Amino acid sequence: MKRFSERFKLIDVNSSDSKLNAYLSNEIDSDLEKFGAILIRNTPINNYGDLEKYGKIFIKKPYLAYVGGVVPRKNYSKYVFNSTELNGLFKIKLHNELAYQENAPDRIAFFCEQQPLIGGETPIAHEKDITGHFSNSLKKFLDKKKIVYIRRYFSKEKLNSVQRLFSPFFLTWQDAFSCEKKDHAELKCKELNLKFSWIDAADTLEVRSEFPIFVNHEILNKKVFFNQIFTQNHNRYSLGSLVYYTYKVLGINSDNAPRNTIIDGQELEKKDLYSLYTAYNNAERSFKWKNQDLLILDNKQVLHARNTFVGKRKICVMMGNN
Ligand SMILES: [Fe+2]
Repeated sequence: MKRFSERFKLIDVNSSDSKLNAYLSNEIDSDLEKFGAILIRNTPINNYGDLEKYGKIFIKKPYLAYVGGVVPRKNYSKYVFNSTELNGLFKIKLHNELAYQENAPDRIAFFCEQQPLIGGETPIAHEKDITGHFSNSLKKFLDKKKIVYIRRYFSKEKLNSVQRLFSPFFLTWQDAFSCEKKDHAELKCKELNLKFSWIDAADTLEVRSEFPIFVNHEILNKKVFFNQIFTQNHNRYSLGSLVYYTYKVLGINSDNAPRNTIIDGQELEKKDLYSLYTAYNNAERSFKWKNQDLLILDNKQVLHARNTFVGKRKICVMMGNN
């Protein structure tokens, strides 16, 4: 099994502004094509303002806002967001950023401003390493299939005390779409080509989107495994036992869960979910965050996750297209 540094590119710029500038200006495009991920250590970046400055070199069209996500986000600056604030007790499984929406970014960059005391890594996996672990039958089953992502955003006013306690799991439509009025949320859904309906006495906004499981990588001109089939699915492997059984006690199942995925109108079979789970685990590689680290990903080739952690953790994110 290859270690992180054997599978992905790792460089050290020794706090040099000119070295980082030269790398980001001249080599990043070909390295991203070749490796899918680059970890740059000892950057001269100190904060989100610096990240925005360097980020614009390799993300020419950065995203202004994080619209329609599944976990809470906030902007540090015009183009820099916080990474998810989902409680450090829970692991976030491998996923391609925003694969369930038309505005999925081509590139995503993570900057470590505060390395966590324990854990909190951002493990990554190359899509080739994941599909390489699929059985032939699973590969055949997923190929040419489309996946439907279902997300249910509750209303801020109607969250009960338990949902408030676990608020990152129960993102409200007001927070997801940064608005207070239903017609504004509807407008944002239309802009993102999302099918939407108001359910539960019009308190919950249900949003559906449909995408192929394998998509064309425009630069590499080949099909890549690009989706959130596993992470967004309501199952014990992706949610983890604690969340899954807590949901169960709260009466939350795949029909009313904050998110779920289906194929051909059907729930995914347990054996396929388990195959995905083991393939993801085998493909995952991680490194210990150090302050000043910059991790740059080709979002279409490489998936990312977040490990559980203890202590303060500040990872800034910038994403967009080139
Ligand atoms: Fe993410």
